[in-house]
Amino acid sequence: MTLIFAHRGYSAKYPENTMKAFKEAENAGADGIELDVQLTKDNEIVVIHDDKVDRTTNGSGFVKDFSFAELRRLDASYKHKTILKKEPVPSLKEVLAWLQTNQLQCNIEIKSSAESYMKIEEPLIELIREFALTERVIISSFNHYSIVYCYRLAPEIEIAPLYHEGLYMPWVYARSIKAKGMHPNFRVVPNEIIKASLEFGIEVRPYTVNKEQEMRRLFDIGCTAFITDDPVKAIKIRKEY
Ligand code: G3P
Ligand code: CA
Repeated sequence: MTLIFAHRGYSAKYPENTMKAFKEAENAGADGIELDVQLTKDNEIVVIHDDKVDRTTNGSGFVKDFSFAELRRLDASYKHKTILKKEPVPSLKEVLAWLQTNQLQCNIEIKSSAESYMKIEEPLIELIREFALTERVIISSFNHYSIVYCYRLAPEIEIAPLYHEGLYMPWVYARSIKAKGMHPNFRVVPNEIIKASLEFGIEVRPYTVNKEQEMRRLFDIGCTAFITDDPVKAIKIRKEY
């Protein structure tokens, strides 16, 4: 069965990368969630996509310049004000504690700023181990040095490279960096690439798949999983299979 990962939670309907969006993804029946992590000024791992807080909160400035306490005062449901109460930017600890109450898988994307590389990996691994979630987490990044470093620190945790340009035999590349799977942009993985990867034993979880036609292509081919903003739509279509 092709698994469904909710991109930044159920972000088609709820404010991205918030506990509300993650919990609604679980309610929708998603198999997993995807989220993005960065470090605050005082080294808390927080769940937010952009380098800056401006797009997703009512604040302004770089995440790295906020202390965790300062960041928590911001409202990450800013754009959804009419339908939701205030939602803070979650710490990764908060999400991992919640994951202990369910069976969801979690794809943690390390945001690839040069500043956080070699700073975030060790505390990230420590937290995943502390919450005993090594078997349910997949660490991904566009910064492949970062995930290779994670693998060196914790070979028991799965890593997956993110990429958005066509690669020649990406399954060989994935194997070469000890990744059991890969997370390509759906546009750069035709069926032949997915089939060859699966046959080679490399799992494929394309992102960010929101159109019905594209979801059906991946269900038809038996792709490992895909990452979508709209888990409700994906689950509805999967029921037909
Ligand atoms: O994990 C896939 C996807 O989340 C990567 O792109 O920009 O949405 O983090 P982005
Ligand atoms: Ca992401």
